[in-house]
Amino acid sequence: MKIFVLSLFFIAALGVIEIPLSHTYKTEEEQYAYFKLIQLRRLFGASNVPISNYLDAQYYGPISIGTPPQPFTVVFDTNSPLLWVPSKTCTSLACHTHHTYNSAASSTYKKNGDILYFGYDQGEANGFVSQDTLTWGGFTVKDVEFGEMTYLDGSGWLETKPDGILGMAYFSTSVEKLPPLAFTYLYKQGLVTNNSFAFYLTKNANQAGSTLTLGGYNSTLSKGDWNYIPLYKQEMWTIKIGAISVGGQAISGTGFNATFDTTTSLLVGSFNIVNEINVNIGVVAEDCSNISKLPTVNIVLGGVTYAMPPSAYVLQIPNGNSYQCINGWQPEDLGPGMDNTIILGDLFIRTYYTLFDMGNLRIGLSTAV
Ligand SMILES: *[C@@H]1O[C@H](CO)[C@@H](O)[C@H](O)[C@H]1NC(C)=O
Ligand SMILES: *[C@@H]1O[C@H](CO)[C@@H](O)[C@H](O)[C@H]1NC(C)=O
Ligand SMILES: *[C@@H]1O[C@H](CO)[C@@H](O)[C@H](O)[C@H]1NC(C)=O
Ligand SMILES: *[C@@H]1O[C@H](CO)[C@@H](O)[C@H](O)[C@H]1NC(C)=O
Repeated sequence: MKIFVLSLFFIAALGVIEIPLSHTYKTEEEQYAYFKLIQLRRLFGASNVPISNYLDAQYYGPISIGTPPQPFTVVFDTNSPLLWVPSKTCTSLACHTHHTYNSAASSTYKKNGDILYFGYDQGEANGFVSQDTLTWGGFTVKDVEFGEMTYLDGSGWLETKPDGILGMAYFSTSVEKLPPLAFTYLYKQGLVTNNSFAFYLTKNANQAGSTLTLGGYNSTLSKGDWNYIPLYKQEMWTIKIGAISVGGQAISGTGFNATFDTTTSLLVGSFNIVNEINVNIGVVAEDCSNISKLPTVNIVLGGVTYAMPPSAYVLQIPNGNSYQCINGWQPEDLGPGMDNTIILGDLFIRTYYTLFDMGNLRIGLSTAV
């Protein structure tokens, strides 16, 4: 089920680290199958799906933990807060198909033991907190608290290609007692000088150049001004939506929220919002023949209008010599507390270069090159 292949290499400069990301479909069939699956899952799939669950669509890369380093691949997930990898003591089936962490083999391991219990669409992931040296983006980060998972439920984790997750979601510590974000250690230990990171995603599936920048953004990847919007929710990268309109027609209702999620490939939102958006968009011709006739969706964030033209919200999937088109707006029951919320996934992030500003608790947006 793995569709994205990631190659990473690192360039450190002036306390900023650039992590080039690339996602590539091995074949066009795989790419097609992937989007078809996502679409079907969204149309017929489970409701109340926790949002940090679309592990097939993510950007992932290598890290290592311990001394000497034990290698893992992890998803860079702006919608969950914890770094975790499977433990050597885990007996779940999924732990046999992934790299596991062996604390006994690391000279820098420190015991913590706080219990962790998480529910994901893949199934439960339970374990405890351990502390060790993390190698990430060429940096060596000391005494990082992370999850050592001893139980990975169900077949979902079996099918998940990366070993674990590197959570990058902001959570106020009052919400839950969680270890600090892995990125926060990088900043606190002075390895990056700016307390923010940015995701730049290229526009086409097989296009190299997607980049995670740790410690700011790369100005060559944006054009136009940056606009900053304060976080609204004290959990995750959530801001207020001013208004949404489709072809000039305002979507009814107010008080919508938007969450930025690098592990959601589409534009997913609660039924009341997205159904109305889709009624106004109409039917997207499967053969892509009428993309240019479809309306633009405007989203007002921090007083600035972010246009999503059909070329940005319609997925154009190579299918033999032609393309197949799928509307990227997908309604879904996002679960408790997520009414009136839209998840701005990769389709939005690749249109607008997104800065996750931990220092100022705000989102920065600029037009992506
Ligand atoms: C980090 O960089 C961003 C983008 O330039 C800026 O908005 C922010 O204020 C900087 N933060 C600090 C703490 O310097
Ligand atoms: C910024 O991105 C450009 C284009 O990808 C790249 O050539 C350059 O090295 C990057 N800058 C830094 C500081 O890494
Ligand atoms: C948006 O998020 C805020 C902060 O958590 C919450 O109070 C509000 O109810 C949310 N809005 C909607 C319409 O769900
Ligand atoms: C686009 O094509 C579909 C399928 O043929 C059709 O139902 C829809 O009305 C068309 N929309 C526009 C705006 O032309």
